Amino acid sequence: MRIPDKVCLITGGGSGIGEATARLFAAEGARVAVVDVDAVNGERVVAQIRETGRPALFVAADVADEAAAAAAVDQVAAHFGRIDVLFNNAGVSAVGDVAQCEPADWDRVMRVNVRGVYLMSHYVVPVMRRQGGGVIINMSSTIAVVGLESRAAYAASKGAVLALTRAMAADHSRENIRVAALLPGTVYTPFVEGYLRRHYADRMDEAVAQLKRRQLNNELMRPEDVAYAALYLASDEARFALGTALVIDGGVSAAKVFA
Ligand SMILES: NC(=O)c1ccc[n+]([C@@H]2O[C@H](COP(=O)([O-])OP(=O)(O)OC[C@H]3O[C@@H](n4cnc5c(N)ncnc54)[C@H](O)[C@@H]3O)[C@@H](O)[C@H]2O)c1
Repeated sequence: MRIPDKVCLITGGGSGIGEATARLFAAEGARVAVVDVDAVNGERVVAQIRETGRPALFVAADVADEAAAAAAVDQVAAHFGRIDVLFNNAGVSAVGDVAQCEPADWDRVMRVNVRGVYLMSHYVVPVMRRQGGGVIINMSSTIAVVGLESRAAYAASKGAVLALTRAMAADHSRENIRVAALLPGTVYTPFVEGYLRRHYADRMDEAVAQLKRRQLNNELMRPEDVAYAALYLASDEARFALGTALVIDGGVSAAKVFA
């Protein structure tokens, strides 16, 4: 067991990377709380974890709504008595360059991806302070460090999360609250599959091949590949990972591929 009995609050735990992380953390000994706007999927993940004999809790909340975020943190802390790990994973995307991106889409992406991370951290930090420490993992993306076309709002939001992570590490490391960011490349989740189906409906194979060409290997990254990185950051093994930006991207940011 890598994280025995740790209470781990995972936002967006009803799907994709969050779901894989919830399952892996539970299997590694954690008591998991899934916080998601999607009650059907959130309840499903929690029910499946409970079937394995591990305790788990679902809380329906929009992380970008202040009252809902505060209530979710209260509920998890009251239920388990503490919060050892906060994984700020919930996120949404929008497609388009700055000229194409409508203000409403810009606001929606920034609201969930940046305000959501801020609000959950805002309410969890005092809990961690009271108990003497904890770990906060913020979901950024490789797009925070390498430009990708047609993702203006999403890139801005993930860059903000990376900068916020470093600011939080500077503020809270001495309180024994360890803060780090995860920067995945493209992971084949419902988030990405939905995007490909909407934009490349009749050319899915070509779109998937293009994804792989950006990497240094020829495989699609799975949610579990990121969940294992989150597990490392959540564990005591990562005690020197302060303000760390952990890139898991199949080499996308390491080398330029001329294919
Ligand atoms: N999939 C990728 O290629 C990739 C790459 C880098 C970073 N990321 C980031 O990883 C995170 C998870 O992505 P995924 O691919 O697993 O997505 P996903 O769409 O499969 O899952 C996201 C989950 O977040 C929930 N959610 C959305 N808005 C919410 C809100 N306001 N409050 C609470 N829950 C909310 C959704 O209901 C869903 O269950 C996101 O932050 C995403 O930006 C994804």
